[in-house]
Amino acid sequence: MKTKGKSVFVCQSCGAETPQWLGRCPECGAWGSMAEETLTTPVQRGRAGEEPKRLDEVEAHEEDRVSTGLRELDLVLGGGLVPGSLVLVGGDPGIGKSTLLLQASGVLGREGQTVLYVSGEESAKQTKLRAARLGLDGRNVYLYAETNLDAVLEQARTMRPGVVIVDSIQAVFTPELTSAPGTVSQVRSCTGKLLELAKGNGVTTLVVGHVTKDGSLAGPRVLEHMVDTVLYFEGERHQSYRVLRAIKNRFGSTNEVGVFEMGHVGLAEVENPSDLFLALRAPNVPGSCVVVSLEGSRPILVELQALVTPSYYGVPQRVATGVPRVRLSMLLAVLEKRAGVSLGNRDVFANVAGGIRLEEPGVDLGLALAVASSRKDTACDPEMVAVGEIGLAGEVRPATQLARRVVEAARMGFKRCLVSPRALEHAPGESGLELVPVRSLREALEAGLRA
Ligand code: TYD
Ligand code: MG
Repeated sequence: MKTKGKSVFVCQSCGAETPQWLGRCPECGAWGSMAEETLTTPVQRGRAGEEPKRLDEVEAHEEDRVSTGLRELDLVLGGGLVPGSLVLVGGDPGIGKSTLLLQASGVLGREGQTVLYVSGEESAKQTKLRAARLGLDGRNVYLYAETNLDAVLEQARTMRPGVVIVDSIQAVFTPELTSAPGTVSQVRSCTGKLLELAKGNGVTTLVVGHVTKDGSLAGPRVLEHMVDTVLYFEGERHQSYRVLRAIKNRFGSTNEVGVFEMGHVGLAEVENPSDLFLALRAPNVPGSCVVVSLEGSRPILVELQALVTPSYYGVPQRVATGVPRVRLSMLLAVLEKRAGVSLGNRDVFANVAGGIRLEEPGVDLGLALAVASSRKDTACDPEMVAVGEIGLAGEVRPATQLARRVVEAARMGFKRCLVSPRALEHAPGESGLELVPVRSLREALEAGLRA
């Protein structure tokens, strides 16, 4: 590729380009995020010689997928790695991305795949020490401490490994560009080259990308459209469990989650996430309600907590951890207007126990119940779960896939489930869980809070 030294300004958080420096990105509105970079005009390099193929003549088999040996990771990928795909694993620094991929490398190597593990951040020695700690024998796994991506690609083309892991995309660079590693143009250009390796040579490629909040490094967000699959690894740094989520997946469903626990020998799969999230629950305490959230195809029971206290400031505080703040505000308004729960001069704190993030509207009912329970200082029925979305009129709407959720709640020993009457049509036959239909939030408070 020939470098044409064209200087532009690139937003380091969203990747927008402008011809001159601006204090604020015109696309994403970030302040002070524009940095000067020399861009190359990418040479269009298609895969020559490919003719259009009739769909039924294209060969592709589901069973071609390669298992990573980590059941939770396979699940999130949609059943294992698709050969020749490009997967981005993003997450905060220190969350466990390297650990996850090193563990997967160990298994892939043991199963006979050659793995080239490119470590741009740690020396081969450091990675080896970690592998030893994780108990990996490292057969067929080659460590390569190199940050020059062109050297990596050359190695990969001669070695012909089945899997290449680049840890991390922010640490590698191509000498074709003058900008520093981690800038948008470097990150994009390097990913483009890895895409060629994956698609052109059929090498399954996994790329680690750090997500940084301050935007000083090009976030993996600018890469999301280039890769086949985007996984995000998340969790509270101070807690041991981690959630792996598919944000985009060309080969499977998105929003599938895998749950891991970080221990002293790496990441362990958590078989029953509901056990984990309900472990510390104190029943009969006001301000707590258990919901069944559907994470991908998997129902997980989670405790929602709320604390409502008198406000001593002019503007009451509304703090939401793990649930979207706008959702909380909306529910507070509905509680006030449609169910007569006065919250005007109260601070409201809402929290998802265990720290998992819930964005699914099916947890609305439980969140509203937790808030009302704290406000009225009356505990929710401890053997009850709530499943449903709340509309602006205070009506309880059905959440998707009730049957799955009900089965999981019954398995966890719950006895009752508040649901929308409309959801009863899809209710499973015999689950051992009594389904209590509630039409409105007002009815839900009557049925769900202990008198
Ligand atoms: P790491 O995989 O290096 O994170 P990332 O690549 O996302 O930056 O994980 C770092 C953290 O994990 C570090 O704080 C130590 C911890 N850890 C364990 O608790 N147990 C282990 O067995 C390993 C390998 C790491
Ligand atoms: Mg790392």
